[in-house]
Amino acid sequence: MNFTFHNPTKVYFGRGKIGFLNDEIKKGTKVLLTYGSLSIKKNGLYDEVRAILEKLDCEIHELSGIEPNPKLSSVRNGIKICRDKNVEFILAVGGGSVIDASKAISIGAKSDTDVWNLIIKKEFPVDRIPLGSILTLSATGTEMNPNSVITNDENNQKVGFAHRPFTFPVFSILDPTYTISVPRNQTINGIVDTISHLLEQYFNAEENAELVDRFCESSISYMMEIAPKLLDNLDDYKLREAMMYTSFVGLNGTLSVAGGDWATHEIEHSISGIFDIPHGVGLAIITPNWMKYVATKKPDKIIKLGKKLFNLDQDELTDIEFCHMVANKFKEFFKSIGVQTSLKECGITEDSLEILVENTFPINDKIGEYVELVRDDVREILKSSM
Ligand code: NZQ
Ligand code: ZN
Repeated sequence: MNFTFHNPTKVYFGRGKIGFLNDEIKKGTKVLLTYGSLSIKKNGLYDEVRAILEKLDCEIHELSGIEPNPKLSSVRNGIKICRDKNVEFILAVGGGSVIDASKAISIGAKSDTDVWNLIIKKEFPVDRIPLGSILTLSATGTEMNPNSVITNDENNQKVGFAHRPFTFPVFSILDPTYTISVPRNQTINGIVDTISHLLEQYFNAEENAELVDRFCESSISYMMEIAPKLLDNLDDYKLREAMMYTSFVGLNGTLSVAGGDWATHEIEHSISGIFDIPHGVGLAIITPNWMKYVATKKPDKIIKLGKKLFNLDQDELTDIEFCHMVANKFKEFFKSIGVQTSLKECGITEDSLEILVENTFPINDKIGEYVELVRDDVREILKSSM
């Protein structure tokens, strides 16, 4: 598979790197500071950022309250501020939701079309307001990739998009210190999301991608190894550092050169778009059931993963039985770290099956690359996830 690789995001990684805001933001810039709810005020990051921007004589405007699973309405609010105030730079301080919403704001503010048309790729951006980020939650990889996922609050469609090069952050500050306040449940969600990104890229359809496969296998293995240690020591800087590194390398493009499946993510986006559950929870529910379902069509890489990652022996087991064993290993792991593994546990019942199937396909009629799935396949995966 041929590919072009270009990742323009400058990453400042480590303790105290926030000082580089002074190099990245010019004096007197009109800045839109975007953030979520209270987390950055509680951990002191808000005051720290404001102090730096004030010292730089920046004109500061704010968009607060960006919600987890960020909504189109928040994006529209941000675009309005950018236009009204002639904002020159957007500084996103938060987790994936804040950064994703800010990416959409940055292209939407510089486009004549409605931003939803850019999100669903009906139209394309020609410019953007530059965006920098300070990441506070390790999970999505959005800090060094061009992706963004926005939920349309009018129809609950949750759509992922990327517009290269416009939606790459110009820079991202990754200081593990700011992730120490992430509570246990959100840390768990981040662990699941990181593992899921590695799995999605592992399940590419490329035959000559052994090194990508090995990177993914060892990164998943490493995440599974440190996860229980981190959950027992949420304020351990070194473990937070390890997770921050794994999650951003896990989805910054280097492992996507051979493609990736992403069906699990598409199904999950339908769930969290409608029911507003955390992305990581939806992934933990769908992953083992996706694996069991595609095992009936293409078991090879699931078998390879089981042997490499868990040192499992196939013995007398059929391919499908072996794949079920691998899928159950993931389910056991997710249970062991305390995340839900069925839709029922989130209050989601079969009544919602059809809308969940429909919203998995907001744009295309097929998902998946390792195994292509259509509505009937997704219905089966969702049924087995109930
Ligand atoms: O709103 P605040 O107060 O900041 O609280 C947030 C939020 O409630 C809290 N939090 C964040 N940093 C914290 C903190 N609490 C304490 N201390 C801190 N340092 O955590 C909660 C969840 O935040 P959110 O940003 O929603 O989490 P995450 O980073 O997991 O982002 C999830 C979103 O990203 C999308 C997901 O679908 C979901 O919408 N994704 C984006 C991707 C991308 N752009 O590449 C890829 C992913 O696959 C994913 O789909
Ligand atoms: Zn994800």
